[in-house]
Amino acid sequence: MKTDYSIKSGLVSWQSPSNIALIKYWGKKGFQIPANASLSITLSESVTRTKIEYRPGTGKMLFYFEDKKNQAFAGKIAKYMEIIADELPYVKYLDFEIQSRNTFPHSAGIASSASAMSALALCLCSIENDISKNNLEENKNFYQRASHFARIGSGSASRSVYGKLSSWGKSEFIPDSSDLFASPVQFTVHPFFENFQDTILIVSKGEKKVSSSAGHGLMKENPFARSRYSQASANLAKLIHALKTGNSEDFIAIVENEALTLHGMMMASNPGYILMKPNTVAIIKKIQDFREQSGVNLCFTLDAGPNVHVLYPETERAGAGAFIEQELKPLCEAGQIIYDKMGNGPQRIN
Ligand code: PMV
Repeated sequence: MKTDYSIKSGLVSWQSPSNIALIKYWGKKGFQIPANASLSITLSESVTRTKIEYRPGTGKMLFYFEDKKNQAFAGKIAKYMEIIADELPYVKYLDFEIQSRNTFPHSAGIASSASAMSALALCLCSIENDISKNNLEENKNFYQRASHFARIGSGSASRSVYGKLSSWGKSEFIPDSSDLFASPVQFTVHPFFENFQDTILIVSKGEKKVSSSAGHGLMKENPFARSRYSQASANLAKLIHALKTGNSEDFIAIVENEALTLHGMMMASNPGYILMKPNTVAIIKKIQDFREQSGVNLCFTLDAGPNVHVLYPETERAGAGAFIEQELKPLCEAGQIIYDKMGNGPQRIN
């Protein structure tokens, strides 16, 4: 895009949600290009709020996370700004003060890169709009561009710029899909999945031993990588069908298969590693037994960590809720649970 900047001072602020993948992105080709397409639910309550004040300068940056200066994050963002400077040259001619906070408890073991990087990318695209003569904000290109910059920070963040369901990665099953940015799901989703619930069980708040970037890297030598990428593609096709038809049985089978395969890939890496905890496994077992005995439509999925996301339709709230409180809560660290659900996507705050 050709941009005509008039550098000035200003303030932008966005809140952007986390998301949970149903079809997992695990493994990259080249720089931030996914080895397979993924599809996720955008959450509602687990969000990052980021505010950027900018003024003419030379690219200096102050970063505050939850009101405290954070050098580690500042360093990461400075590197990120260097990477995107070719495409967003204004970052070299402004100074930034960035304030960021999460609504979900700090160090609850929840991946915050999706919400954090999407909030930052949305702010950077709004600044571009505010200081340039092109006003793209109402345009789909604005979100596409934000998704592209979010992807550069964290692949899964590319999907967080849209509400409900979104996909990222080139796929024969998704028209106009791209490896460079995510898109909102275009087909009509069956009412069964409206207001889908995601209850996040905090099994462990501890920092994980192997980061997601290291995990993606280990897929390069994983002997099962090729089969995994074709499995992901087949699962995506089946999931799209289940989402259109409201087939809950297929939905559950695919979502749980994806979660277990993700962790299977970690175990089969060299060196292999396990991010699940004993209570992760205990919770999975209880969910599967309860579903079989009660007929309640609920299932689990996992991120790259020990915490469990319990997914169910709004119509199953009573049954699922009582089971979670009585049977699963005692297996969580300090009984910590976050009741989240499908959300409408990011919002500009100012
Ligand atoms: O976006 P990253 O690089 O943190 O990788 C995220 C990978 C998973 O969360 C495990 C799966 C996904 O698609 O979100």
